[in-house]
Amino acid sequence: MSGSKDGTRDNLLAPNGSRRTFRYARLLVLTVGSSAIFAILFYLWGRELMPRSAGRWGELFPFVGAVALTLAVSLFLKEWFGFAGREVRKVRLAARDFLFLCSLALLLFFCAKAVLEVVAEVPALGGVAAPRVYAYLIPIPAFAIVARVLINSETSILFTVAASVLSAAAVAGHWPELLFLLLAGTAGASRAGRIADRYAMLLAGVQTAPVCAIAAMALEYAFHGSGEVGSAALLGALNGLLAGPVALAVLPVAEYAFGYASDIRLMELGSTSHPLLSRLMVFAPGTFHHSVVVGTLAEAGAHAIGANPVLCRVAALYHDVGKIGKPQYFSENQTGGENIHDQLTPGLSRTVILSHVKEGVRMARAAGLGDRVVEILEQHHGTSLLYCFLDKAKPMIRDRKASEEMFRYPGPRPRTREAAIVMLADATEATVRSLRNPSAREVEETVTGIVNRAYLDGQLDECEMTLRDLHAVGGAITHVLIAIAHRRVDYPASGMGLPAEDP
Ligand SMILES: [Fe+2]
Ligand SMILES: [Fe+2]
Repeated sequence: MSGSKDGTRDNLLAPNGSRRTFRYARLLVLTVGSSAIFAILFYLWGRELMPRSAGRWGELFPFVGAVALTLAVSLFLKEWFGFAGREVRKVRLAARDFLFLCSLALLLFFCAKAVLEVVAEVPALGGVAAPRVYAYLIPIPAFAIVARVLINSETSILFTVAASVLSAAAVAGHWPELLFLLLAGTAGASRAGRIADRYAMLLAGVQTAPVCAIAAMALEYAFHGSGEVGSAALLGALNGLLAGPVALAVLPVAEYAFGYASDIRLMELGSTSHPLLSRLMVFAPGTFHHSVVVGTLAEAGAHAIGANPVLCRVAALYHDVGKIGKPQYFSENQTGGENIHDQLTPGLSRTVILSHVKEGVRMARAAGLGDRVVEILEQHHGTSLLYCFLDKAKPMIRDRKASEEMFRYPGPRPRTREAAIVMLADATEATVRSLRNPSAREVEETVTGIVNRAYLDGQLDECEMTLRDLHAVGGAITHVLIAIAHRRVDYPASGMGLPAEDP
């Protein structure tokens, strides 16, 4: 682990208050820093962006103008994304997302300026086409792909519209430039559905290239005649082809700076060579095996309803890492047949068991697993009851020394379909494993019972699971569990090198 990552870990291991202060401080530094950078860049291009600025206010105006322009652009982005964040159901933008999208849009703004002013001036390229045609090289497909991969499709559409308007303004463009940017950005984002590896990212760019080429050609012909149609098509195609490599270059920087975890990053986290999973394998092998099976079940459930299977599998792999510190308190690791809880009061057992969620979240944050995984860890038990200790605690509840509510996990309840799938996979695996040689029918009834219990207990109220989804997820989990639980035919003892029994 690098030095800088160790620094992050130290900060994250600090108490909650310090961690929150650190997060706000980081956000503040990012905001002030990016605003300052953009104000300086606006200043450097001040004379061109604001040609009248030098007149009345002399040298001072470009600076004031640059600040004013930064303010105006930021305000536009804030209103646009703020409105969508409030009113569009799937656009729930945190401060971090807002800052990321604004930075991305402003970066594209300056890329657009650079494409027209720097690339068009390169002697080897300058003669290829008229300067305005280079607008077809503005890398909006790459940026739209990044927005979709790191946040979601709805947000990437909003980003494409805002960034297109800004970038068209940056190159003093008219309808052809604006229409091209809107079309190319949308084409890039729509081809970046499930990007699970670098090849898929490059492929998304390659698939965008013909759309960009045709759009550039058509718009050029419609608005400017046939003179530069060939150059427009060439630059449009090049824009699409470069989208994959450019997105791949921007992605790790954005992930590190803003704490995102793309599906490509999740695939890396899914490797059992990750230090946290290695520790789980060594210190809590029972939990590790349980997590691998839950990962398989959750992945099958996600496939059944079109949720994100990579996120489900990886979050399931890490969902119980909080047990690493006290593995012997969890039944899957009690190999000696002795239950440590027999010597503990229900209250003490409850404290130890409940703490694994909080501890897991702390460890996941420290390891930089990203918010999507951390949120699922936090929600994987929702506010469900600790059924295994409830019976033992009945006398205490009867004597009013404890309440049933004390034996609930603190939550929050699952807020995404992926979190709900992991919750159901976790509960069903643990219960079915406790059955001795279950038949297919018993497995099916157990899964149905657990899904119904979670639904009736209100655990699925905050996620977007429909009854049809629940049925499909239950069916997929049952299918895998039956395959896992069925007994193999007995091997003959002689086949294992053992002395064959007398008939
Ligand atoms: Fe758990
Ligand atoms: Fe679990």
